[in-house]
Amino acid sequence: MNNYLTSTIFRKVLASLSGLFLVTFLVGHLVGNLQLFIPGVQGQTQFNKYALFMTTNPVVQALSIITYSAILLHIFITLFLVIQSRRARPVGYAVSNGNDSSGWSSRNMAILGTVLLFFLVIHLKSFWYKMHFGEMPYQYLSDGTKIKDLYQVTTSAFQNPFYTFFYVFCMGALSLHLKHGVESAIQTVGLRIPSYEKLFKYAAIAVAFSIPAIFASIPVYLYFTNI
Ligand code: HEM
Repeated sequence: MNNYLTSTIFRKVLASLSGLFLVTFLVGHLVGNLQLFIPGVQGQTQFNKYALFMTTNPVVQALSIITYSAILLHIFITLFLVIQSRRARPVGYAVSNGNDSSGWSSRNMAILGTVLLFFLVIHLKSFWYKMHFGEMPYQYLSDGTKIKDLYQVTTSAFQNPFYTFFYVFCMGALSLHLKHGVESAIQTVGLRIPSYEKLFKYAAIAVAFSIPAIFASIPVYLYFTNI
């Protein structure tokens, strides 16, 4: 048992489970962010009330702590696995096997992960940090209460074409990262059952394409509707 806990396979299982958990976070985050498509004061009010709920509800706060832990675990474990495999094979293969199924994304997971880490730092600084610790504009509701106007912060951030482009670019990296990540996680946790192999492969491709594409459509929509 002790050997298993320090084994590479256990670390791969942890990397896979944390990664799959983060995909469920992404789906939830995406659904919440879709409210940014609602135009006008109705969208602003709905999104700001949603943001208030997400930052004050104790169940959501507990889920957030689990999410931050999963992000840290995923980063540290995958970093460790990369270092370990480089140490085991310091010089890469001179010729890659043309028949192997490893595509560009599988060989570059570390680069893609680093791009995503950079994205996350910028992203959290722009919205999460500002919402929790920064100076925020307020929206005054019809009943006189005032709530933090995260809608305004978000929509104005995407009036900057470079910031918008940066998001679209990073969603490309997310797509490639998910394509290999989801497929390999399914295999690692033992879900690659032969009769469902094709189904899982298509499900991984669908997840890897649709989640980043819908995420990317939000900044693009906000940029073009606020020009
Ligand atoms: C591209 C469209 C996206 C938009 C408009 C967006 C917007 C936001 C906003 C407004 C917040 C602050 C919410 C709050 O503090 O209550 C937030 C938090 C966050 N975002 Fe995003 N996001 C996007 C994509 C992503 C992606 C692709 C990831 C991950 C790769 C991500 C990861 C996070 C995390 C981890 C938090 C902190 C969540 C928490 O405190 O529980 N976001 N996002």
